Amino acid sequence: MIVIGADHGGYDLKEFLKQNLEKKNMTYYDCGCNGSSVDYPDIADEVCRKVLKNPDANKGVLICGTGIGMSIAANKIKGIRAALCADYFSAKYTRLHNDSNVICLGGRTLGMGLAWELLDVWLNTAFMGERHSLRIDKITAIEKKETVDCANA
Ligand code: RB5
Repeated sequence: MIVIGADHGGYDLKEFLKQNLEKKNMTYYDCGCNGSSVDYPDIADEVCRKVLKNPDANKGVLICGTGIGMSIAANKIKGIRAALCADYFSAKYTRLHNDSNVICLGGRTLGMGLAWELLDVWLNTAFMGERHSLRIDKITAIEKKETVDCANA
């Protein structure tokens, strides 16, 4: 399932992307917002927690004005690999190489057509595995180290 969320800066793009997903008969869960002002970390938190409920099947889409706030917040959550994308190559290769499970987009920085192309290629590209799996394992190891360091602080 695709879990999608935006703050007020990403609301219009979220609605546009939802329409395109519907045209492709793809199901999604919308975590808001409804257009009124919200704090992007709250939406990032909700979307990411839902993605992690079924990490093998779920993917997240986060949109704010620039996509930056969403990506900073999302990447604080253990198990989330959120990629801020503004070009086609990055959207494709962050799936191939980073196995990103969340894509972040800028509602005020991207044209809607480009944003859809980025989401479409991201959703339809599989992780390559092989040598890249080892690198993802190293990211996971950093997360574990951080948890221990914080606990001992
Ligand atoms: C909200 O005004 C804006 O700060 C937010 O959408 C986002 O761009 C933050 O990174």
